[in-house]
Amino acid sequence: MGNLLLKDKVFVTQPVLPELSDFNKYLQEIWQSKWLTNMGSKHNELENELKSVLKVPYVSLFNNGTIALLTAIKALDLPYGSEVITTPFTFAATPHCIVWNGLKPVFCDVEPDTMTINADKIESLITPKTSAIVGVHVYGFPCDVEKIDKIAKNYNLKVIYDAAHAFSTEIDGKGIGAFGDITMFSFHATKLFNTIEGGCLTYNNPELVKKVYNLRNFGIRSEELVEDIGINGKLDEIRSAVGLLNLKIYKEEQRKREKIREFYNSRLSKVIGIRIPQMPDNVTNSYQYYPIVIEDDYPISRNELYDRLKQRNILTRKYFYPACTDYECYKNDLAVKLADLSVVNDIKNRVLCLPFYGALQENELAYICEGVENACQ
Ligand SMILES: Cc1ncc(COP(=O)(O)O)c(C=O)c1O
Repeated sequence: MGNLLLKDKVFVTQPVLPELSDFNKYLQEIWQSKWLTNMGSKHNELENELKSVLKVPYVSLFNNGTIALLTAIKALDLPYGSEVITTPFTFAATPHCIVWNGLKPVFCDVEPDTMTINADKIESLITPKTSAIVGVHVYGFPCDVEKIDKIAKNYNLKVIYDAAHAFSTEIDGKGIGAFGDITMFSFHATKLFNTIEGGCLTYNNPELVKKVYNLRNFGIRSEELVEDIGINGKLDEIRSAVGLLNLKIYKEEQRKREKIREFYNSRLSKVIGIRIPQMPDNVTNSYQYYPIVIEDDYPISRNELYDRLKQRNILTRKYFYPACTDYECYKNDLAVKLADLSVVNDIKNRVLCLPFYGALQENELAYICEGVENACQ
């Protein structure tokens, strides 16, 4: 097996798709109704169903996670030019949404185990200009929500979570979207639960319902009333239909990924120099990614392992390399140059996300594991 090359490329993920015949039925309904977007029946049904899936009182659907996050920050009316403490170990959308709101991202280091924002380092970054914290539940590992909540209360800060990787994750049985002021989920095609493009905001405060609704729909309240300076964040009926169908199958996909995780764990936990980050016992895994960390005692570097697997038609992701603080648009900021980001700058060179989706076959999994096990051959 070691010298065999897989015939087809193995990608890092594969979208979860409903049966085409089921989708066709929904399409026929939409065609008949002629209601394609603007909070139609499929949209409203999906919003309602997500409340119970995510265990939150309020859900607002969006056309993608980035517009949702942009709107979440806007909805909290943070003072223009104020500082928002966030993590550089995330996707570009997180800090970009802060800047698009006229705010300044202040980058905080992460925890070595969960790779989420290090709550113990947040306080030293707080200044009189700080208005909010944006945490990211990277790979579905929850931020230290309790500590962050305490800090926010002490300093009167708002808290927004980017839960793009954490669909259906629960902490002690509580939906992850119930923490902080607002949480964003992405329903991009690569996410466990997808609407092709899409996303949502979740929150507990009933006062945000109207605000978020307005911001998502140009501020238009009724035919002759525009109340706010909103944007177009609406999710259409066709994508909502994909969401309704994918809600029926995402758990099955999770079960398959759980088995794949077990397979990887049983093989890779024996490999010297490979660390597999573990979900805390009180947290349910979303099964969005399978990250491994390449330690110093592994024979080759993360980049060499990435190349080696690629040569074998296995496509992995150096997620998140580069860190946001390495981007051209952020790296020259003096605060970024002076920031203590030692853990981020180490972990970004060590993490590798392996292929992770339900349709992976056992021979493919074995082949991937061999590629990691026999790093020097
Ligand atoms: C951590 C994180 N935040 C935000 C986003 C943006 O979401 P979307 O692609 O739905 O706009 C993504 C990725 O897709 C992400 O991984």
